[in-house]
Amino acid sequence: MADLHGIMVALITPFTDDRSAIDVNRLQAHIERMVKAGIHGLVPGESTGEFPSLTLAERKQLTELCVKFAAGRIPVVAGTGGLTSAEALELSVHAAQAGAAAVMVVPPFYDPVNLTELTALLAEIHEAAKIPIVYYNIPSATGVKLSPKELASLSKVGVKYLKDTSGDGPALTEMLFGLSDQITAFNGWDTLTFYGLAAGARGGIWGAANIIPELAVELWDTVAVQGDLKKGRELWAKIWPICKFLESHNYAAAVKTGLELTGTATGGLRKPFHMLGPQVAEEMKVLIQKAGLRTV
Ligand SMILES: *[C@@H]1O[C@H](CO)[C@@H](O)[C@H](O)[C@H]1NC(C)=O
Repeated sequence: MADLHGIMVALITPFTDDRSAIDVNRLQAHIERMVKAGIHGLVPGESTGEFPSLTLAERKQLTELCVKFAAGRIPVVAGTGGLTSAEALELSVHAAQAGAAAVMVVPPFYDPVNLTELTALLAEIHEAAKIPIVYYNIPSATGVKLSPKELASLSKVGVKYLKDTSGDGPALTEMLFGLSDQITAFNGWDTLTFYGLAAGARGGIWGAANIIPELAVELWDTVAVQGDLKKGRELWAKIWPICKFLESHNYAAAVKTGLELTGTATGGLRKPFHMLGPQVAEEMKVLIQKAGLRTV
């Protein structure tokens, strides 16, 4: 299996209109669009995918469907973190058996774990699932704040990659330059995407890519592959306002609202969450249009 790299979309979970189930057809169509746009990987079942809204059975179903619809064209990294070790373990083993290339593990997010506890949890997952782990570093949601060195130490227990959603540019830089022999850090903070790629990150796990997959891939090709910073900046000028907007609202709601604005039905969000209200959505519509996309 080739190393994970490039623009990996933090995939939305489309629901049926009554939100009683995952909408299989919508999911398939959305994945098809991602693959056609040149997206390098699918990351279902994490924040953008509203995993806390899904049952255990749905989380497994989502992984299976993504592997099926990706059909070997791009890797699937399944979000498998849970509130209990047992849940994370069960989902990770299932994802490996279902054909995921890696699992992305967010630590338990109600009571923060300490480094010793986290290391033991990841070791157990690695031993049982036997596929690479992407550690999901999102201190704002988990309360688990580790230094770059501590993050890199997780490489001893099967953590090969990191989705860095700390929003901490200097810490990301330290991982890219000082610790890259231990851990491959992907940017996971929308507004740092340009910087992360320019600084040499091997990829990004990115929710905005649901709405603007073509632009996201173009940014990757321009900045990370060709190293053309001048053209990259022009692209970033279009993309950045959307990223800033997404980060300023409920992220999953903002992404789904953006998709609806561009004509993709998502089913909306499960209670207690809701799509963005009409006034806020109007703001986003303008940003999407300015980026050159058509809205409905
Ligand atoms: C972390 O948790 C472990 C196990 O619960 C405990 O033995 C250890 O003292 C804790 N470490 C710190 C620094 O709190």
